[in-house]
Amino acid sequence: MKTYLKRQLNSVDWDFVTDSESQASGLHWYPGTFVPALPGAIIEAFSTPDDVVLDPFGGVGTTALAALFRGRRSISIDVNPIACLATFTGVGLVAVRLLEPRLFDYAIQEAGAVCAGIGSQKTLSFGSRDRLRKLDKFIETVIDYNGDAARRFGEARPARTELLPWYGKQTLRLLIRLRNQFVRHPSQFVGAIGLTMVSSIARQLSSQTKSWGHIADNVLPHELVEKDVQRAANDWLQRTAKRIERYEPLGNVSAMKPLCYVRELDWLSADEITLPEHPRLLVTSPPYAGAIDYTLAQRLSFYLLGANDDEVKRLCSIESGARRKRFNKQHIAEWSGELSRSVERQISIMEAPAVAAFVMPHKDHGRDRGETDLKSVMTAHGWKIEFEKHRSIRQVRARQSWTSIKRETILIFEKT
Ligand SMILES: C[S@@+](CC[C@H](N)C(=O)[O-])C[C@H]1O[C@@H](n2cnc3c(N)ncnc32)[C@H](O)[C@@H]1O
Repeated sequence: MKTYLKRQLNSVDWDFVTDSESQASGLHWYPGTFVPALPGAIIEAFSTPDDVVLDPFGGVGTTALAALFRGRRSISIDVNPIACLATFTGVGLVAVRLLEPRLFDYAIQEAGAVCAGIGSQKTLSFGSRDRLRKLDKFIETVIDYNGDAARRFGEARPARTELLPWYGKQTLRLLIRLRNQFVRHPSQFVGAIGLTMVSSIARQLSSQTKSWGHIADNVLPHELVEKDVQRAANDWLQRTAKRIERYEPLGNVSAMKPLCYVRELDWLSADEITLPEHPRLLVTSPPYAGAIDYTLAQRLSFYLLGANDDEVKRLCSIESGARRKRFNKQHIAEWSGELSRSVERQISIMEAPAVAAFVMPHKDHGRDRGETDLKSVMTAHGWKIEFEKHRSIRQVRARQSWTSIKRETILIFEKT
């Protein structure tokens, strides 16, 4: 690695105590997300405009947004359909704001009209078909998304039996109505905005007000409380619009399309991974052993969107390192083995010269086994470790994550 790059990396304060980029990434809460400036610093050091950045454990698209703001394109992959849906919506909203601001206003207005109508029994009327088609066409050119969770969930019904113990009766009725109106919306993108919204507000509208860990562990609320669905929906929409409106149209966006590929994919079971482009930069934070239940944390959102308990359990079982698996004595070794196999596949689709940056958990509870095994896999495939740095996680983030992890290690490998 060139000396000036090492100097640049050494001058970064990797703790990122203040981060002005958090704005656009707050569209959907998700445990264990990147501080956006972290992938941002790596992208700036190791890529140039139009390059494609891969995040193989992309979560809700923090890396994809950091790439977009810097004129890079991205590939964001995750096994969690809600994470992919939120990535699709977030990158779509920012791209449309930057390139077609009038369509951005229109998308927000259309979503707002659905929220305004949920209190009344009248049939909703939608906006101009032509403009909605134009919006969807634009989104199709900027994002290549294989999941279409919005439509797939839409074909199923909300899992009412699973939802009843969590919500006041009226709250659940209106929440399902809101979800159904967005499922029926003629624009796929407005539908995706709406389902991302429903998914994002599902937890605050439930009667279980404690952390996501209580929902993941199936700790039901003691009593059911009615909440204001319309207000939560409007607040989400206004907050989202305000955050994204801060970005000026025609910013530093790549002229090449698509700007982002979003792929719903399980690294451990997909037979052959073919990606449309070969990235030269990978930036990721894999799941940490026994730390977070990404699927179970979103249990209520899954039920609302249309997945039943079996589907939720199936997704949880394929999630590497899921916190639920920590009772198994072998769980650290299994997690580390899964991570090594996933990483082998991830680097096989990259093209040298290339750089791969991983943010790994610190030593607690023997999780450093992941780092040791990762280094062996990378070395065996001709990658050299060039940079290694410890960082502290801000306490507020550590608490949100319901984990004991307070420190992480950034590892940057290079293949020439
Ligand atoms: C630490 S999170 C990444 C969060 C991301 N950096 C962000 O800021 O949103 C790890 C992600 O790995 C995903 N994951 C776990 N097992 C996976 C698998 N087998 N295949 C693909 N993704 C997986 C989880 O769903 C989770 O979103």
